[in-house]
Amino acid sequence: MPCIVWTKELETGIPLIDKDHKVLVSILNQVYDAIGNFEERAVLGSALNSLLEYTRYHFAREERLQDVAGYPGLIAHQQRHHELAKQVQDICQRYEADNSTVQGAEVLEFLRSWLVQHIQKHDMGYLAQCLGNEAAYQAAEQILFSPQGTIPQPEKKGLVWSALSVLIVEDNRNFQLIIQTILKSLGVRTISVVSSGAEGLEVLSTRSFDLVLCDWRMDGMDGLEFVERARGAGIASKVIMMSGYSTDDVRQQALQIGVDGFLEKPITARGFLEMAGRVMA
Ligand SMILES: [Fe+2]
Ligand SMILES: [Fe+2]
Repeated sequence: MPCIVWTKELETGIPLIDKDHKVLVSILNQVYDAIGNFEERAVLGSALNSLLEYTRYHFAREERLQDVAGYPGLIAHQQRHHELAKQVQDICQRYEADNSTVQGAEVLEFLRSWLVQHIQKHDMGYLAQCLGNEAAYQAAEQILFSPQGTIPQPEKKGLVWSALSVLIVEDNRNFQLIIQTILKSLGVRTISVVSSGAEGLEVLSTRSFDLVLCDWRMDGMDGLEFVERARGAGIASKVIMMSGYSTDDVRQQALQIGVDGFLEKPITARGFLEMAGRVMA
């Protein structure tokens, strides 16, 4: 059950802004799903990281839009964005320092009003100036989600996210959603998801993928066995293993059986970008 349902009242009519707001709503709902499930602290951490990263990215795009359109309220809006991002950052930092201090009820209360109020009270204020301004839309579209932050970045030569096909092998439903959100934010269009190593092997026997993201700990066949069997079957896709607690021994073992890189949970879009960029180079 989602905590925020997307409604017409949240729509600004500016396609790129509505797209960003929908992504933010979906990340908020993922945070909501992860709260209260104490076995899934890494899920909550990953969702909070995604929220912070996507928030910064969206704010930068929105500010560029307002700037190019000549919106007189830009400075005040920037200040509000700054405060909102700071609030999410504080939660992330508290989570990092001691995740037991991040209480579900408090975070929920905050997040429930955070985005919805900002969209309805403040974002609607710049519409008169920005709606239909194609030059402003284009300028905002040029800000890409990148490891360097929100500076315009041309897509790295040889790695075109939109052309990448990715298979996610993960048995945790919340993690599946978070990873998909991160991949979609980057522009990846071909994403398949399976919940077990056995299903992963089945899919790989019929289709090829550029990149496989697999969880280390899974019921039944674990990530190691999955990769070993995939490599044994001649699967050449690049493989990134996601793990909450890997030691050097474990990493060494995984590299020997054909894992190309590691991603520590809680994951971040930035961490994924850097690792995928390295593995796919
Ligand atoms: Fe805003
Ligand atoms: Fe916004």
